[in-house]
Amino acid sequence: MPDDMFTFDAALAQPLLDYCLERLKMQPVELDYGGTSVAFEDRLHGLLNEEGSDPTEVFATFTDVLAPRVVSADSERFLAFIPAAPTKAALLFDMVVSASSLHAASWLESAGAVAAENQVLTLLAELAGLPSGAGGTFVGGGSIGNLSALAVARETGRRRLGTSGTVKIALSEEAHSSNAGALRLLDVEPLLVKSVDHRLTGAAIAAAFEAEADPSLVVGVIGTAGTTNAGIIDDLRGIGEVAKARNAWFHVDGAYGLAGLFSPTLHPKFDGLELADSFIVDPHKWLFAPFDSCALLYAQPALARSVHTQHASYLDILHDDANIEWNPSDYAVHLSRRPKGLPIWFSLAVHGTRRYGEAVDQAINITRAAVRQINAAPHVRVLRAPELSIVLFERIGWSTADYEQWSERLVRDQIAFVTPTSWEGKTCARFAFLNPHTTEELIAQILETCT
Ligand SMILES: Cc1ncc(COP(=O)(O)O)c(C=O)c1O
Repeated sequence: MPDDMFTFDAALAQPLLDYCLERLKMQPVELDYGGTSVAFEDRLHGLLNEEGSDPTEVFATFTDVLAPRVVSADSERFLAFIPAAPTKAALLFDMVVSASSLHAASWLESAGAVAAENQVLTLLAELAGLPSGAGGTFVGGGSIGNLSALAVARETGRRRLGTSGTVKIALSEEAHSSNAGALRLLDVEPLLVKSVDHRLTGAAIAAAFEAEADPSLVVGVIGTAGTTNAGIIDDLRGIGEVAKARNAWFHVDGAYGLAGLFSPTLHPKFDGLELADSFIVDPHKWLFAPFDSCALLYAQPALARSVHTQHASYLDILHDDANIEWNPSDYAVHLSRRPKGLPIWFSLAVHGTRRYGEAVDQAINITRAAVRQINAAPHVRVLRAPELSIVLFERIGWSTADYEQWSERLVRDQIAFVTPTSWEGKTCARFAFLNPHTTEELIAQILETCT
């Protein structure tokens, strides 16, 4: 090791660079598994000390102890939660961003990075049909995206009403948990609206407004474009129209599903999205970017600016000319930030939007194949026809414990990572597809394990 820890050291760098190359070339990606009883403390003990440890030893701890105990979200066998499937181009560019130590809070510091991020945001806004002038920023994930957008919804409503008191935002019980969490943090009262067959409709939202003693206090409505549990798209047009008529903010959580904007066949499902005041979509989900990245868009970014801009004497220089500058820090709950939109920018630029649409469609194809296989097998039953790429199915006769043991067995045997969920009060199994490399053979293998 050189005495100066800021000097490039080829001996330290080479094994790490070699590892990156090998990991990038790995096909198929190994699933791996943390297990439940690994004594990490013993293996990590003493590594952080006053004098520093041998880099070979520290890196070996990562490669041999830590990394194999992280389930690979980018494995074609990862079908739980919402997986990831970053393109190699996006992963490589993420390394470029890391090596360049890019910081992208403001136009002053990082106009070049922000311009490229904004190119992606503009493309998303156009696909969504938002008005020209729409814009926003990339944040770390859908949860922060929802929180940031809902903060603007709350403030916009409060200002209109001239109150600093409690206001309400309507959402269905199927909305992602981060939305209810955001409302709690924002001290906004949730107005829970019953969905109709798991889909929030304009009629249900209209009735919820009607039932309120003071409907004006409902300052926002959340629609979901692809629920996490089942991939259901709310009645965006109906909800959006009611929200507009009531002067309420319309936020669309499309963290998972709005990747479908790139697919000409799925695009019409998002009819009404153009009415949104804000929406999110996570490139680290179905848009093939590495963690962590959420695109947050506002129809009128000035409203977001008026809520999120941080004021401090040392930051005043950032806001000298609002006509040319675009400070990502003005649009969300963040200041210092990595340009989380650059990996998708590079990947989109080199692969093109058509191939993105085709890759999204590939997940739909494997979803349909899975449904066909489940329908053909006597021991399993599809619980809901998928609208996007999530399949909920029942293993006939199983208890919750059976699902949990099966799930653990599957990942321990490195066949797949499939976790249980519940549907209409009963535990069931769930596949979430988005990796274009997931095969029909794998589905057959998984279904075979639960006969
Ligand atoms: C619809 C929806 N919204 C929000 C989130 C939260 O996103 P993140 O995990 O990036 O915070 C998810 C995550 O799966 C989601 O599916």
